[in-house]
Amino acid sequence: MTVVATAAALSLPIYISKSPKLNFRKSAKGGFRVFAVFGEEGAIERKSGWETLFDVEDPRTKVPQCKGKFLDVNQALEVARYDIQYCDWRARQDVLTIMLLHEKVVEVLNPLARDYKSIGTMKKELAGLQDELAEAHRQVHISEARVATALDKLAYMEELVHDRLLQDRNTAELDTPSTSPGTSTQSHDSINRRSPKKSLNVSGPTQPYHPRLKNFWYPVAFSSDLKDDTMVPFDCFEEPWVLFRGKDGNPGCIRNTCAHRACPLHLGSVNNGRVQCPYHGWEYSTDGKCEKMPSTRLQNVKIKSLPCFEKEGMIWVWPGNDPPAANLPSLQPPPGFQIHAELVIEIPVEHGLLLDNLLDLAHAPFTHTSTFAKGWSVPSLVKFLTPASGLQGYWDPYPIDMEFGPPCMVLSTIGISKPGKLEGQSTRECSTHLHQLHVCLPSTRQKTRLLYRMSLDFAPVLKNIPFMHYLWRHFAEQVLNEDLRLVIGQQERMLNGANIWNMPVSYDKLGVRYRVWRNAVEEGAKQLPFSKSN
Ligand code: FES
Ligand SMILES: [Fe+2]
Repeated sequence: MTVVATAAALSLPIYISKSPKLNFRKSAKGGFRVFAVFGEEGAIERKSGWETLFDVEDPRTKVPQCKGKFLDVNQALEVARYDIQYCDWRARQDVLTIMLLHEKVVEVLNPLARDYKSIGTMKKELAGLQDELAEAHRQVHISEARVATALDKLAYMEELVHDRLLQDRNTAELDTPSTSPGTSTQSHDSINRRSPKKSLNVSGPTQPYHPRLKNFWYPVAFSSDLKDDTMVPFDCFEEPWVLFRGKDGNPGCIRNTCAHRACPLHLGSVNNGRVQCPYHGWEYSTDGKCEKMPSTRLQNVKIKSLPCFEKEGMIWVWPGNDPPAANLPSLQPPPGFQIHAELVIEIPVEHGLLLDNLLDLAHAPFTHTSTFAKGWSVPSLVKFLTPASGLQGYWDPYPIDMEFGPPCMVLSTIGISKPGKLEGQSTRECSTHLHQLHVCLPSTRQKTRLLYRMSLDFAPVLKNIPFMHYLWRHFAEQVLNEDLRLVIGQQERMLNGANIWNMPVSYDKLGVRYRVWRNAVEEGAKQLPFSKSN
């Protein structure tokens, strides 16, 4: 029987072409030195390859003792380095054990030894060796798990180092003479305190919205949904508003509550660019002025209105008290894409929780098993890779680029290679793509108005298929429903005191950055983290 045949019979994952005799002894450093002995004549031949393979120092005595201690980045990196060294050493020990067992098997089956042993004895010896081999295989699996854990730790270290570099860079910029040292340091410190090492402060369903969060332009409706004679009611930061078009065709946004007896105005109608209340007929223009008051007369009646603007197919409002910013961001799909669907869906969760969910892709193979992630395998490591100043980046191993657009937008481009197959290619390597925009408007503390826009850079013919819109809505709702039951559950737990950001890990990077950004806004940081000007 050859060595190879013996190994195969015992399911050994090794192949040795010659029949070596191995001689092992402890090295001076505490590792193992291995010498291979070739040839029937017993001449000892040192094989430097084997020797170097096992001549590795046992690192266990040098591992830093840090259990339960809080480590800075350098100390943590040192621990990760020892982890890897230990995995390496351990894996070599496993191989060595299997090789020793293999050698024993060879000895048992040696034709010379066989002459002096009964079949019964040989069977017994082989059975004993099989048990030892099974144990060795178990050890190999444990080593595999250790390597996976060490890789996870390294990925986390990578995050920390990256965040540290980013913070150092911000500090350098904040310390320049052009900024105010006092406020800059304060804002930087506040960001440091919020770094994703530990649980994050989560504003959301349990606390009122911070007024500073209102000082942004918010998209609230698609232009195509606002005809000349229609109204679009919506809630924004816990207040009811209604959109309609004035005499000039420009959109206006006024409070959806009549000044007279608080009747909801959207139940009325639009006449000549004015909203008419359905109760007693008072009429309001786009700046909230009551311009008509049938059967009675009162001067200077006005309801609240918001700055309102239309750009690139969307209607935006400014709900904050600060003067509106001069520029609105562009949410257009990239060149070459055509918009195929624009949907508005009311979601019964706080907008931050929905954003956390949309900025996370690692949940897909567990949550979206009936829709887009059906049949996906679970990768050994999921990462969100982001350039230096990152609210945008791409997912590894998925061909998906993603960006958080302040204050409440998620933009993503998904590369499609084959239907239902996403892994293994970058977005650029895919020939066809789907672009998504999710706007998560804060309606109330437990309600989000989701504006969803879907664009494709292929199959323009789909736009001409009747009722396609209903199909897109059906798909979008199916995917959302898979998330919703989980996010509603998170919200319930938050209301009972749980923190949904108790233990962020490396693939939570983008969600954590959203929280860091939002906390900085609420704390009034002079310079917001991750902004493109950084
Ligand atoms: S409540 Fe609107 S006019 Fe009376
Ligand atoms: Fe999801």
